[in-house]
Amino acid sequence: MPHRSLVAPFSDTELEAIRADFPALGLKVRGQNLAYLDNAATTQKPAAVIEAEAAFYRTQNANVHRGVHYLSQIATELFEDARETVRRFLNAKSRREIVFTKGCTESINLVAHSWGAKFLKPGDEIVLSQLEHHSNIVPWQLIAERTGAVLRVWDIDENCDLMQGGLDELLSERTKIVALTHIANGTGTINPIKQVIAQCHAAGAKVLIDGAQAAARTPLDMQLIDADFYALSAHKLYGPTGVGVLYVRESVLEQMPPYQGGGDMIRTVSFDRTTYNDLPYRFEAGTPNVAGVVAFRQAIEYVQRIGLDRIFAHEKELTDFAVQSLNAEPDVKTIGNPKNRAGIVAFLIECAHPHDVATILDSIGVAVRSGHHCNMPLMKRLGINGTTRASFGVYNTKTEVERLIEGLKKVREIFQ
Ligand code: ALA
Repeated sequence: MPHRSLVAPFSDTELEAIRADFPALGLKVRGQNLAYLDNAATTQKPAAVIEAEAAFYRTQNANVHRGVHYLSQIATELFEDARETVRRFLNAKSRREIVFTKGCTESINLVAHSWGAKFLKPGDEIVLSQLEHHSNIVPWQLIAERTGAVLRVWDIDENCDLMQGGLDELLSERTKIVALTHIANGTGTINPIKQVIAQCHAAGAKVLIDGAQAAARTPLDMQLIDADFYALSAHKLYGPTGVGVLYVRESVLEQMPPYQGGGDMIRTVSFDRTTYNDLPYRFEAGTPNVAGVVAFRQAIEYVQRIGLDRIFAHEKELTDFAVQSLNAEPDVKTIGNPKNRAGIVAFLIECAHPHDVATILDSIGVAVRSGHHCNMPLMKRLGINGTTRASFGVYNTKTEVERLIEGLKKVREIFQ
């Protein structure tokens, strides 16, 4: 959780070995080596993850929690072992607090529609920040419409940090929940979630943290931060798509009604009455993405072997280099200057639209994202339509950042 600065980034040999673990990094794109700088959208996968998913379908495939036969027992064991891996990764107290979902978005929807539907009343307030991704805005709007609760927004300052004192003004006895991103996908801002959670708890509000961008970038500890809800996606953590995690403090999860109905979440069903399964199965209706969950375990073990502290230090070095290099270009403006920034940097160049910049960079094999990044309210607040965004992962190199900067020359040649 703390952002250690004393950890050494990778040596060249280590970085080379890490890169060799990711088959996609060997791809040629438009005749050039791929420089994959779109890790905030999704990460590439190490061979261990790809192979675990294939091995599951080859030799371990069966449904979970439903069969006494050999394969079903194997699949169930692998699935529950993965839950234990996630528990340790998050330092949650109990496996009962770990719900598998299909992604961070579903995790947030689950909280809004289960906890929100039960506990939000007309006039209650939901506090969101100006930095939120659509997935941590729209579920709250939907439940606000249904319950009569209202949204309040915590503004940002000129550096794209949360406004100092902003929460003091927003928190009141009407505040029922604060939903906040840990690391902002549009700016890389690292929010002080531990302090925010403490302040919200003192005011009697629950806190949901959107950890989509944080889970692959910084060590996590649910007991240390004292989170009520923490949501993340496997695919942004070098794991498969279609798998997510929702951590919920057990005493909170116990009070939540089921989110979806179906197989596995029940204990008994009759046409008169259904009783529900134990935690966390009550929130896992239907056949889950078993192969994805099993492969996700490999992704977690992969980053744990390297160490999240070291990944953070590596990405910090790359990000600082990228920010410095971009700021050295007189016609380039980086977006925000947050006090603590994770591996994300967005920018604008005077002569070209972000989509054109991304297209030119793609023509030399550099993959970045352009547009509003599912952050339309943030773009509106900044008075822009979009940005070009480079986002780093465990395997990126300074050379790749240099290729991005070099690509801007080509952008100028075409658009100036
Ligand atoms: N949240 C993802 C991004 O920032 C999709 O690109």
